[in-house]
Order: sequence, then C-alpha cells, then structure tokens
Amino acid sequence: MTDVKTKAIEAFKSHFSCEPTMLSYAPGRVNLIGEHTDYNDGFVMPCAIGFGTAIAAKLNGTSLMRVLAVDINGDTDEFLITKDMLKHESKTWSNYLRGVTKLICDKNLEVKGMDVAICGDVPLGAGLSSSAALEVAFGNLISHASNLNIDLQDIALIGQAAEAFIGCKCGIMDQTISACGKEGCALRLDCRSLDKLHVKVPQGLEVLIVNSNVKHALVGGEYNERREQCEKAASILGVKALRDATLEMLEAKKSLMDDTTFRRARHVITEDDRVLEAVGAFEQGDLDKLATLMYASHCSMRDDFEITIPEIDGLVEIIREALGGKGAVRMTGGGFGGSVVAVLKPEEVSKVKAAIDERYEKLAGRKATIIETRACNGATFITL
Ligand code: GLA
Repeated sequence: MTDVKTKAIEAFKSHFSCEPTMLSYAPGRVNLIGEHTDYNDGFVMPCAIGFGTAIAAKLNGTSLMRVLAVDINGDTDEFLITKDMLKHESKTWSNYLRGVTKLICDKNLEVKGMDVAICGDVPLGAGLSSSAALEVAFGNLISHASNLNIDLQDIALIGQAAEAFIGCKCGIMDQTISACGKEGCALRLDCRSLDKLHVKVPQGLEVLIVNSNVKHALVGGEYNERREQCEKAASILGVKALRDATLEMLEAKKSLMDDTTFRRARHVITEDDRVLEAVGAFEQGDLDKLATLMYASHCSMRDDFEITIPEIDGLVEIIREALGGKGAVRMTGGGFGGSVVAVLKPEEVSKVKAAIDERYEKLAGRKATIIETRACNGATFITL
C-alpha cells in the first residue's frame, strides 16, 4: 500500500476512533501535450502519475459528510448531503467535496453519509491536478459506498461539473485521466466524443516532471478568460468549437478579429494537430519528433496563448540546453506557474538535474523540485 493510503487509514482511526471500511484512491496527472484544447472539444494526451489522493471512509448512518483533511493541517468540515449545497466561505478544499456531493444529488441519486479522512501527495499548485484527484477519489467513493454504480467517465464528468460549481470552467482532461488512466500508457482523449486510445509510453523513455515551485491558481481569472477568448474565436469562425476550425479558416477571417483572439485560436488549432502527430511519434518511439512537437507546443503557449511565466520559460530552456538543444520539454497544465514535463532517456536524467541545480535558483530565486514518475493506473476502490 502506498504511503498516502496508509496515512489516510491511520488518520481515520485516530480521528474517528474506529476502523475505516473503504479506501478510495485517484491519481494526479501530467499532460504530455494538448494544452487548453479540452474545452475546445479537441485532443489531449496526459498520463496518470504515481502521486494521488487517498480517502479512508466508513458509512456513518446520518445524512452528513464528516471530513478530515490530513494535509490541510488536520482541518475538518461537516456538511449536509443536499442538492441545495452551499460553498464553504473559506475552506476551498472542502468545496470540491461539496461540489461532487451536490452534483451526484442533482442526478436524484441517494447519497449516504460518511466519515472520511483524506490524504494526498500531489503537490498543490504544481499543475498536476490535485483537485481532479480529490474529486475523482471522492466521487468514486460515493458511488461505491452508496451502491450507485456510476461509471468512471461519468465520475470524471461529475468532477468537472464540481469545478464549475466552485468557479473554474475547466475541460474534461484532468478528471478523465485521473479516473481512466492505464499503467504504462498515455491517454489520447478526444474531448468531444470522449473516445480513448491508450498509447504505450515507448520503452526506454522516461517522464520527468519539474515543479517550478511558482504556484498556479486557476479558479476564475485568466483561465476562464482564455476560454471566453476561444469561444469568441469559434463564434467568429462560425464553428461549434475551435476543434472544427483549420488554419486556413482562421487566416480567411483574420481581419474580423483582434490580434489576441487570432493568436488564442491559432494556439488551439495548431495544438490539436500537434497532439495527433505526437500520438504517432509515441507509437513509433520517435523522440526527435516528439521533441519538435513538445517544444512547438511550449512556444505556442508562450507566444500565442500567453500562459507561461518567465520562471517556466527559463526552466524549459535550461532543460532543452542540457539535452543538447533539442529536448522533448514543455510547460504542462493550465499555466501561470506550475510544472514542466520532459520525455527523455533515463541516462539523460542526471545531466538535466545537474543543469537545473546549477541554473534555476539564480533565475527564479527558488529551487525547483524534480519528480520522476511513470504512467500509472487511474482510480481504484477497495473494501477494507
Ligand atoms: C487545467 C484544466 C484542464 C485543461 C488544462 C489546460 O488543468 O483543469 O481542463 O484545460 O488546464 O490544458
């Protein structure tokens, strides 16, 4: 059993003074390519990582959820299970649980009260979807505990709707990979049809995550603004979503939109193409091609979508240079901080680490955290 699972069980025992009967777990994710394409009905290619959220639980025979958040200094919350759920004024972490509970109640399903202890090891604000891990682990727990039989993709959709309840109009990528990830594979997800293709991480390649330790926050603000800009571009182009547009269509309507809207759309349209090409590169183990695509993705996020920050751009260049100026590296996640992802040969890891140690702190005034991981399975539930 992983550390977080054991910790959740132990915390449950000491807080509720009894044994938990259920254990739910869901991982965070790293997105290899396909950023801000999900809410444009496009393509993404994330994989689940070896860090996640564990919840130890037991039915409590009431209509209340009683919750202990081990990582939030042992903070607690208690809320009534109802469609008329209110957000907690200050406990953001609990609002994910309130949102998931409300969304399941909205389906007229009967949710039973539980005592739960939550423990996670996805670094917060690192762009690795700690919130999706929490939503999916909790949604799947409710589904099993209340015998609701909700399938994992629907759990993911509930998690996405919970984000909207809280204030972030996110896409479906994070919750889907957290729910449906497969060991050793990245997931090529069509965010319109939700069609899934599990693509093996090529043998002899490793996924490295580097947390810039500049925290990102996506609720509201810049994230929702990007989404609005994309929707505006789609409407000018006369398409349902940017997934349906081509560069030719965009060029033809260039004079009808401002430069910002044009560049936002150009990022999404070209990024969708890069994801589909990256699937092929992955299948063939073509690291050079992957490097070209991932760096192009980074530049597009930096110049057209404007969601990178200097610390992240600097980190990408440090890693690229350590890899001889052609590494497969880019920012991952929603942006404005968070992490960088690289795909590389295991024997290259040490020189990348050395370069980061030597150069990043000077540039960013803080240290980066290096996270070596592998592609993992999605959500699990067990009876204890
Ligand atoms: C966040 C959102 C996702 C996705 C990414 C950007 O992680 O939750 O839905 O839009 O940003 O690709």
